Amino acid sequence: DKANYRHFMAKEIHEQPEVVGQTLARYVDVAAERIALPFKLPFDFNEIQRISITACGTASYAGYVGKYWLEQLARVPVELDVASEFRYREAPLRKGDLAIFISQSGETADTLAALRYAKAQGVHTVSVVNVPTSTIARESETVLQTLAGPEIGVASTKAFTCQLMVLASLAVAAGKSRGELSDQDETRLAHSLVEIPRLMAAALATELQIEKLAREIAKSRDVLYLGRGTSFPLALEGALKLKEISYIHAEAYAAGELKHGPIALIDESMPVVVIAPYDRVFEKTVSNMQEVAARGGNLILLTDAEGAAEATVDSLVTIVLPDMAAIFAPMVYAIPVQLLAYHTAVVMGTDVDQPRNLAKSVTVE
Ligand code: F6R
Repeated sequence: DKANYRHFMAKEIHEQPEVVGQTLARYVDVAAERIALPFKLPFDFNEIQRISITACGTASYAGYVGKYWLEQLARVPVELDVASEFRYREAPLRKGDLAIFISQSGETADTLAALRYAKAQGVHTVSVVNVPTSTIARESETVLQTLAGPEIGVASTKAFTCQLMVLASLAVAAGKSRGELSDQDETRLAHSLVEIPRLMAAALATELQIEKLAREIAKSRDVLYLGRGTSFPLALEGALKLKEISYIHAEAYAAGELKHGPIALIDESMPVVVIAPYDRVFEKTVSNMQEVAARGGNLILLTDAEGAAEATVDSLVTIVLPDMAAIFAPMVYAIPVQLLAYHTAVVMGTDVDQPRNLAKSVTVE
């Protein structure tokens, strides 16, 4: 049931600190601040030359963030595909390498077909699924379950952040196995993961501000989302979420791509949501914001206190998120991104939990 919420989506957004915390506890020894996978993986990360990640929709954006984490923390090349492309492009996979599949339902037809293709190529398969009895779970060599609980809203929210938690834990585990991370690094990163549920709860406090902002966004025909690094896949997720439940057209770009085309769209009627925690690419993103501001675009900045102080650009609204380890920011910044889509849809009066033309589980291609 919806408890005291108007929609399942609202309930599921608010549940995230709890379910991400449960997922954390499955993969991280919270007290010892060490990664502790619940079982030994049937492969050695040192033998893996390349990882492929495959999923659809929101799960693919979780995979995209996972790619950045695995490459940065474990120094292993990762290829990311949407399943509908992967299954037909006959990707050459090296026997003994690793393929990761991400799916809330575990029943998505294209992701399942991609898994079967990978298995036939002799690679190790890990699935990150929310439904442990699902077909994808049953057919994968290893299952890393997300403990999001049943997700009823068609738009994925809590499954996404739980997928991120699993991928973050896996990336740290991989980095440790491959000798890229020291014991100290592991403790520092595990400590940052342990903090996430509390930070997510703090991020929920932006809701009133976002509700107000949503009234402005609801007047727009198009919205642009920008981000760099792991904030780029989160921008993609923000645009998808807004499109699917509010039916407002939204697009996401890597902030550095702005001047390669999308900047032509910028005028006074174009809200630009910039996702920019104060990290090592922050200054670069600020220069993109200046380009937007110079053309009259309305900036909505999601950042932390330091970013808000350093951003030398006037924004329509700045949403200040808690200070945190920037590397794991997508889990916390997902909250305002989801809330913005949700409240915009509520203002638009759409059917938030059952958006038109969409199904919760896409079992046909
Ligand atoms: C977006 C959304 C879809 C799903 C996609 C994959 O909010 O819900 O994009 O993420 O259909 O579904 P699963 O994860 O069940 O494979």
